[in-house]
Amino acid sequence: MNDHRHAPEGASRQANETAAGARFTTAVAHPNIALIKYWGKADPALNVPAVPSMSITLDALTTATRIRFDASLAADTISMNGSELAASSSQARRITTCLNTLRALAGTELKARVETRNDFPTGAGLASSASGFAALVVAAAGALRLELPATDASRIARAASASAARSLFGGFAELPAGAVGEDVAAMALAPAGHWPLEVVVAICAEGPKAVGSTRGMLDSAASSPFYRTWVDAAAADAAAGRHAVLQRDFAALASVSEASCLKMHAVMQTTRPPLLYWNAATMATLERLRSLQQDGAEVFFTMDAGPQVKAVCAPGTGPTVAAALAAVPGVSRVLTTALGGPARLDAAPWA
Ligand code: DP6
Repeated sequence: MNDHRHAPEGASRQANETAAGARFTTAVAHPNIALIKYWGKADPALNVPAVPSMSITLDALTTATRIRFDASLAADTISMNGSELAASSSQARRITTCLNTLRALAGTELKARVETRNDFPTGAGLASSASGFAALVVAAAGALRLELPATDASRIARAASASAARSLFGGFAELPAGAVGEDVAAMALAPAGHWPLEVVVAICAEGPKAVGSTRGMLDSAASSPFYRTWVDAAAADAAAGRHAVLQRDFAALASVSEASCLKMHAVMQTTRPPLLYWNAATMATLERLRSLQQDGAEVFFTMDAGPQVKAVCAPGTGPTVAAALAAVPGVSRVLTTALGGPARLDAAPWA
């Protein structure tokens, strides 16, 4: 496994100097999309997944986060995409809880100024919490001079949002299921260069999702008649997904990924109250992908807690799929991306 260290060496070099002289440390991370889905918690308090998952990290979508620990601050303050978060908001509390873990490791109580921004729609099923917490942990660990192996950074990110554990890694990543009290971390399965798949994201609605994943999966566990079956079948799906990636077997990966996605959505749709994330453009996109598959294109779909459809394409197939999906009624735009690298400190100036 790769052991990317978010090390103290270079951290001060990579801190950006502001006009006032205070030092920020910046990190970037990419969202990931799960091919084998995480939906359900074995330990809600510790945020330990009930099922194993496997994901790909997306290069063209980026969260950038910068942070400064500062003795003059009385509380953490957070700006997200240019808007200040209220300290009482659930997002701000989640960020402060994550920072508390890192402060405890560093032996400091200094409060932080956090500024974070996404170059893609936030909270619309494009995994902004995944890249967001991965970037936050790397930036904060760098600012606090913590020598944190990627596994430890992944564990801390998981406690905040389990999918974030996977964005510490580039290419293909796996997050195991855990038991009550088991503090699991994600791990690298293969780097991006192992199999240069392409992903076309069809944006089927720009707004934030109605019900967030955290609430949704607790409701699913409590009420979906299919939840237990979903959990019991997950290990076999994860093993099949891993094997398909390692063998670069597109047909096998397509089959198990679509099955995992549709099973997760069956659990969502049979939750009370129901979690219906798809809209008419989602269905039209799925139909278009079905016809592309029938014409021999190597492409498959996956969807998360939102209406967007992610089309995973064999190397070289992305442009054809992007052109087809851009013409689907209700699709406002398409994003095309290669597989991306791990979360990392970033020395580029904050524009
Ligand atoms: C549908 O990681 O957002 O995207 O751990 O409660 O923060 P929390 O949930 P989150 O759930 C992601 C669910 C999913 C599937 C996946 O990414 O595996």
